[in-house]
Amino acid sequence: MIAIGSDHGGFELKEEIKKYLDEKNIPYEDFGTYSTDSVDYPLIAEKTCAAIVEGKCDKGILCCGTGIGISMAANKVKGIRAALCSDYFSAKYTRLHNDANVLCMGGRTIGHGLALELVEVFLNTPFEGGRHERRVEQLMKLEEK
Ligand code: RB5
Repeated sequence: MIAIGSDHGGFELKEEIKKYLDEKNIPYEDFGTYSTDSVDYPLIAEKTCAAIVEGKCDKGILCCGTGIGISMAANKVKGIRAALCSDYFSAKYTRLHNDANVLCMGGRTIGHGLALELVEVFLNTPFEGGRHERRVEQLMKLEEK
């Protein structure tokens, strides 16, 4: 199950991603927003990420205008490793090396075609483990400080 959310700046992109997930029969839960009316991205990030840390969803996708604010908010949630991506290589390697569990994108910064490519590679690339396991553990220990 994929948790998906956006503010108004990422709303249109979120809707495109939902169409893609529907086509691929990938189940998701939409944590809002549900229109282009202005909303605050930290609240959307909080709700979407809660579903992941509570184990209801495996991964998340978050969009705002730039992807920056919503990725900052997501990374404040304990257990979340959110990656703001705008290129294919980063979306692939953040899974391979960082075991990222949330993909963030900017609805006003990248085209929908590219965004869907990033979603596809993010959802289909496993964590490589090995030496990266230790680094991800070190990363998560920073949450305790
Ligand atoms: C909203 O206008 C905009 O600030 C937001 O979508 C995002 O880009 C913040 O980082």
